[in-house]
Amino acid sequence: MDSAGYDLVVVANRLPVDVTVGEDGAPSWTRSPGGLVTALEPVVQSSDGAWVGWGGSADLELEPFDADDMRLVPVKLSEDDLRFYYEGFSNDTLWPLYHDVIQPPTFHRQWWDAYQRVNRRFADAAAAQAAPGATVWVHDYQLQLVPKFLRELRPDVRIGYFHHIPFPPLEIFAQLPWRLQVVEGLLGADLIGFQRGGDAANFVRIVRRLTDVTTRGQVITLTDADGRVDRHVRAAAFPISIDSKAFDRLARTPEVQQRAKEIRAELGDPEVLLLGVDRLDYTKGIRHRIKAFEELLEDGRMTVPESTLVQVASPSRENVGAYQQLREEVEAQVGRINGEHGELGHAAVHYMHHSYPMEEMAALYLAADVMLVTALRDGMNLVAKEYIAARSDDRGALVLSEFTGAADELGGAAILVNPHDIAGLKNAIQHAANIDPREARKRMRRLRRRVLENDVAHWSESFLSVLTAVPVRERKPEE
Ligand code: G6P
Repeated sequence: MDSAGYDLVVVANRLPVDVTVGEDGAPSWTRSPGGLVTALEPVVQSSDGAWVGWGGSADLELEPFDADDMRLVPVKLSEDDLRFYYEGFSNDTLWPLYHDVIQPPTFHRQWWDAYQRVNRRFADAAAAQAAPGATVWVHDYQLQLVPKFLRELRPDVRIGYFHHIPFPPLEIFAQLPWRLQVVEGLLGADLIGFQRGGDAANFVRIVRRLTDVTTRGQVITLTDADGRVDRHVRAAAFPISIDSKAFDRLARTPEVQQRAKEIRAELGDPEVLLLGVDRLDYTKGIRHRIKAFEELLEDGRMTVPESTLVQVASPSRENVGAYQQLREEVEAQVGRINGEHGELGHAAVHYMHHSYPMEEMAALYLAADVMLVTALRDGMNLVAKEYIAARSDDRGALVLSEFTGAADELGGAAILVNPHDIAGLKNAIQHAANIDPREARKRMRRLRRRVLENDVAHWSESFLSVLTAVPVRERKPEE
């Protein structure tokens, strides 16, 4: 950057890397989890921008540094910030509330105070990095107040906000004691992006019902104290994606192809390899999927060792009670099925509570006959897109929950399911496992066309081109 700051500043709860500081004081880093990082990393790498976020452990105090072609600006979070802002308000209030209250959300005033405090800290850090007239792109539910706080500090910058998870209907959102403050926080942005048209429509309806502001289609018009038009905010859908061509290339490499064969061989060359890949999260429908497989085995409609399920469940939010409980339930379920249906050297379910590098994931996708994405609610679900991008052989079948954002785009060619309907889910899994190869090929080609065209570059370009069309304000930052 020049001394005046960066023209593009991304603000997200997490930096794209988890930083650890060694005994010698030198930082080292590994990639952080989640779809947001997968999507945004290529955008920042190609735009010479800065990324403001948390480094992944408590009390980490670090100067800005460069990693993987990005300027990373760490925000410090104390243990209390993590307990109240991250584990509490973000992941025990907002996360369950915004995912159809699958789990009951917890409302605590102390958590809300921490959420406001930490959002201010992120806004301050972004304000310090942005060049005059810069574009600042804020991400996700952890930072919904940043647009408003940042606008107060820097009325000269363009502010975009993208919401990676579902936005709930008014009837659910209205439970939040601080609903108006959250709406006002978001309205600090010039452009608010959502995964689906339905999410944007939920937000606009909420604005209409909870405030006096007028809305027309996607456009929300804010007025000043005298009733004069101050500015417009647009709320629209921009479905996110992955770097599909890079993923396709990775999955074509001889190493990955070879590893896919090894994986099948290590599993005893099953006829049907079913695969689930998720963060271990109650929104992902992991228990529903395992239950359906268990019943298929009980009914004798599938058998071990001919069929096997590989479930990668990467560790997530392990200090939050609902995640601990889920882990116990899933692990008990897996133990029971393996006890009941496994044989020496042939488990019914191979359960892995780790995360793996991209190369291994690509090999797993290639090895799998059936990919199971059975989320009860999901903003988009990039695992579904990764599976498709990996399948340049046009083989494999995708069972996809209709409650994912991905179903809006891929519904026509994936095998859609309602994961709550266990009987229907069992039928869909069996259909996918026995699918006629010509039908599978036809479906996969359609899926691949979609995913290869609508890649993450397309997503960020569409968002940023709408955002940068917003006229920059003449006003100077406040002294
Ligand atoms: C989802 C959210 C992200 C989040 C990721 C991982 O993809 O949309 O904002 O970063 O999950 O969760 P974590 O709590 O570990 O950041």
